[in-house]
Amino acid sequence: MNKKILLLLIIFSTLLFNQCSKKMVNGKKELIEIIKTVNSPDSNIIVNIILFDGKVFYEINYKNKPLINRSKLGFLFKNAFPLNENFSISNVEYNQFDETWTQPWGEVKNIRNNYREMKIELQETKDLKRELIIVFRAFNDGVGFRYEFPEQENIKDFEIMDELTEFVFSDDHSAWWIPAYRDNRYEYLFKKSKFSKIDTVHTPLTIETTNGLYLCVHEANLTDYSSMTLASGENNTLQCDLVPWSDGVKVKASVPHKTPWRTIQIAEKPGDLITSYLVLNLNEPNKLEDVSWIKPAKYIGIWWGMHIGTQTWGSGDKHGATTQNAKEYIDFAAKHNFPGLLIEGWNVDWDGTWWDNGDIFKFTETHPDFDMEEVSKYAADKGVKIIGHHETGANIDNYEAQVEDAFAYYKKYGINTIKTGYVGIRANKTEWHHGQYMVRHYRKIVELAAKNKIMLDVHEPIKDTGIRRTYPNMMSREGARGCEYDAWASDGGNPPDYTTIIPFTRLLSGPFDFTPGIFNIFLGEQKPDNRANTTLAKQLAHYVVIYSPLQMAADLPENFEGNPAFKFIKDVPADWQDTKVIHAKIGDYITIARQDRNSEEWYIGSVTDENFRELEMDLSFLDKNKLYIAEIYADGPKADWENNPLDINIVKCFVNFETLLKLKLAAGGGQAIRIRKVNKNDNLGSIPNYEDIK
Ligand code: NOJ
Ligand code: CA
Repeated sequence: MNKKILLLLIIFSTLLFNQCSKKMVNGKKELIEIIKTVNSPDSNIIVNIILFDGKVFYEINYKNKPLINRSKLGFLFKNAFPLNENFSISNVEYNQFDETWTQPWGEVKNIRNNYREMKIELQETKDLKRELIIVFRAFNDGVGFRYEFPEQENIKDFEIMDELTEFVFSDDHSAWWIPAYRDNRYEYLFKKSKFSKIDTVHTPLTIETTNGLYLCVHEANLTDYSSMTLASGENNTLQCDLVPWSDGVKVKASVPHKTPWRTIQIAEKPGDLITSYLVLNLNEPNKLEDVSWIKPAKYIGIWWGMHIGTQTWGSGDKHGATTQNAKEYIDFAAKHNFPGLLIEGWNVDWDGTWWDNGDIFKFTETHPDFDMEEVSKYAADKGVKIIGHHETGANIDNYEAQVEDAFAYYKKYGINTIKTGYVGIRANKTEWHHGQYMVRHYRKIVELAAKNKIMLDVHEPIKDTGIRRTYPNMMSREGARGCEYDAWASDGGNPPDYTTIIPFTRLLSGPFDFTPGIFNIFLGEQKPDNRANTTLAKQLAHYVVIYSPLQMAADLPENFEGNPAFKFIKDVPADWQDTKVIHAKIGDYITIARQDRNSEEWYIGSVTDENFRELEMDLSFLDKNKLYIAEIYADGPKADWENNPLDINIVKCFVNFETLLKLKLAAGGGQAIRIRKVNKNDNLGSIPNYEDIK
C-alpha cells in the first residue's frame, strides 16, 4: 500500500476509534480503566465501552453531552457463575460499512446502511476463562449493540436468568409506554410519564428528553431469544427485563449464540424517528431468492360484521363466512379493484366461545354453508385473491400439529396470504406471547410460510424487530389496539389522540395492520356504546399516516358503496417510494407525505387529536414547473369528531411545487390528499387553483 494512504488511514482510525486507559488507586487496590471508543459517521454520537476493575460498561454521548451514562452489561445464568466481572479485553476490531439497499416493498424504496463498528472480545481472567463478545454499531441516527457467545470450551448449553443490560439516562425523561406482563399482550393505550413513574414496559419505548431530544429504545432481529421489556429503576435507569419461560428461565441457548441488537435511536425532531431505518439495518439481508410473489395489497374482509355484532364467526343464522356472502364480497372487491378479500370464520370448531377452545380448531374443514372450492374458483375468475385466516386461540400445539396441512390446503385453493391470530392470555395456557417459546413459534411459521410462498399478517404477534428485511413475506402485524377496539372496547374505543401517538411508538417497530376505513362512524343500533372517535376525513388520512403493506378497507361494503370519500381508499397505494414526515408533535398531530412506489403520485395524510388545528405545508417535493391536480378530502367547516364526524369537503384543484397548503383539521379530524399529474379525462376548465379555494 502507498505510504501516504497508509498514514492517512492510521490518522483516520485513531480519530474514529480512539481509546485510552488509566490507572486509579483505590485504597491499596490498583483499579484499571480502559476506554474504547467508536463514533457515528457524522461524529455526533460517541460510544464508549469501559472496562473498569474487570467489569464492562458502555456510555453514549450525543453532540458532546451525555445521553446514556455508564451502564452495566453482562448476564446471570442458572447453575453457572455470572458473566459480568473479571474481564480482560482480548481483542478489539473496528469496521465501517456504507451501503444502500432496496426494499422489495416498504415505506421507502432505498435505505442507506452506514455505520462504524467496534467489536470487543472479552475473556474472564479467572476460573473458567469464559469468552463474551460485544459488538457496537454507531449510526448517524443511533446505536445498536449485541452480545455474542462464541464457541468455547467452558460454555456449551446455558440458561440465562437475567440479561444485566441497563440504560442509565442522564435525566428523568418522559416516555410514551404500554405496560408489559398484561393479559391483553400489547393492546393498551399509550401513557406518557416520567421514567420515575413507569413500571415495566414494552419496547419500542419512545422518549422525550428534558433537553428536547427524541429517543427510541427497542431491539432488532429478535431471533431465538426472549423479548426485552424495560423495568424502571433508581437513578433514571431502565433495566433490560427479559420475558421468562413458565419455569422462570429467560433464555435457553447453546453456543454459538447471538442476542438481538439493543437499539437506541436518537433524533432531534420526533418525525426523524419515523424515517430512521436503523432497526431494519440491523437485520440480516433478504434470505428469499425469489420475491416476485410477494405483493403489498389492499383488502376488504368478511370481518367488521363480526366485530360490530351483525355477523358471527361461528355457525348459526348470522354466520358471516357463507358461500353466498363470500361471493357478494368478491363482487364488491372486483368492482372496486381490491386485490384481496379476508374471510374469517369459515373453518369448523372455531365456534361459540372460541377463545377457550383453541385445542379443537381444525384448519382444513369448512362449515357446511361455506364451500371453499366454489368460493376460491369464483374469486379467481374475478381476479380477487382470498386472504386466508388461522385463528389459533394461542393453542400452539394444536396449530403446529396441523400447520403444514393447513398451508397446503390454502395453496391448493390459490391462497397465498394468511392472517394468523393468537387470541389468548397465554400460549398453550402456559407461556407468555413474548417469551422465547413464542419467539421461536412465530419464526417457525414465518420460515414455513416463506418455504410455501405465503405472505403473513400476524395478529396478537410478537412485536416487530425488523425481520421483514430478512423474510419479506412477513408483511404486517397487529400488536397494538387496532380499529376493532372502536367496535367493542368497554372504554369506548381508541380516543382521538390515539393515531397521533402510535406513528411515534408502535409504528417505529414496523407495519401495523390497523384496519382503518370506518365510514359508518356510529356503527349501528346494536352497538350503542361504541363508535369510531374520528371524523370521516381522519379515517382516510389513516391510510397514509399508518403504514401497512397489507392495508384493509375495514367497513362493510354497503357503507362504502356510493360514498364519494371511498374513492380515496380505492386510489391510495399500499407500497411507497418515499416517506416524508411534514409535521410531528407526539400526541397532538402528525402529517406524512408519501410517494407511490409505482407512479409519480403523492399522498398526504394529516391527523390531529381532540383539538382543531391549522397546519401549513409546502409541496416543494413535487417536480418543479409541472402542474398537478390535488384531490383533497378535508373536514367540512362544521365537522368535529364528536357531534358532526361526517361533514367532509371533497375538492379538486391545481397545485404545483410552490403551493402552500393550509390543512384545516377539525377537532378529532384529519385530511387526506392525492396529488397526481393531469390526465386526459380532466375537464381542465372546471378545475380551480388551490389559491382560489383555500
Ligand atoms: C383478533 C384480531 O385482531 C381480529 O382481527 C380477529 O378478527 C379476531 N382476533 C379473530 O381472529
Ligand atoms: Ca394532545
